Amino acid sequence: MDNVTAVDRSAALGIFDSGVGGLTVLKEVLKILPFENCVYFGDVGRTPYGGRSKDIITQFTRQDVAFLMEQKVKFIVCACNTASSVALEDIRDDYPVAMVGVIEPGARAAAQRTKKGRIGIIGTHATVNSNAYARYIHEIDPKLKVFSLACPLFVPLAEEGYIDKEATYLIARDYLQTMRDVDIDTLVLGCTHYPLLKHVIGDVMGDEVLLIDSGEETARAARDVLSETNILNPGASQTPCPEGERRFFVSDVPEKFGGVASRFLGQEVSRITRVDISRY
Ligand code: DGL
Repeated sequence: MDNVTAVDRSAALGIFDSGVGGLTVLKEVLKILPFENCVYFGDVGRTPYGGRSKDIITQFTRQDVAFLMEQKVKFIVCACNTASSVALEDIRDDYPVAMVGVIEPGARAAAQRTKKGRIGIIGTHATVNSNAYARYIHEIDPKLKVFSLACPLFVPLAEEGYIDKEATYLIARDYLQTMRDVDIDTLVLGCTHYPLLKHVIGDVMGDEVLLIDSGEETARAARDVLSETNILNPGASQTPCPEGERRFFVSDVPEKFGGVASRFLGQEVSRITRVDISRY
């Protein structure tokens, strides 16, 4: 559905994820759109989505979007690679706000930057099985070779803060050997958690492999859409530009949430409200 009615430019951006991982995308959004008000929803109570079926991921994604719609957001960023690859295309036309997912921006960046035409994608099982990254890449250039690999253990490692541990290197070396064998020059970090392990993945893959952070690319894509459709927050044109308000909503508040969330966002996460997502 098109944005047919006038959009309130001061309204917040809605950003959602299956849990805490989408805060890595929010971090990138805040770097280039600091003046925007943001509402983040993390489905912490039902995370992870990555091993679930298409039906369930689609149902959860609809509920996440319905919650954000109730917050009267002007634009939605689906920060979750799993939801973006499995559900977003099926549901986006059912809502009266524009949405951007993480797959298309990451795929576009990889297709543009590869020199050898050999691209690797790592993500959850659902993201890899959906083949969504490869589809977008082949729409841009059918000749590009795409190799996909699920690396599910990276999610709990990132959440547990296993960033610099030998165990993480061991798992990364084991997972990524197949990517090394197929001689890629570009690797898409196709999961919200992987930017936290960027240096481990980079060390294992070597300097000659370019890592694409889908979150960074998505933040740029969001800025482009807001600017092209003229719905940037009016604060964008003020100097100095005022900082937007951030609100955080989650479907459960596990004991460790605050600490993990602050590490993913790179700053303190406060004002966390619990939501009963089953109502949506
Ligand atoms: N946020 C998910 C993604 O980017 C990872 C965690 C999960 O499996 O829910 O795919």
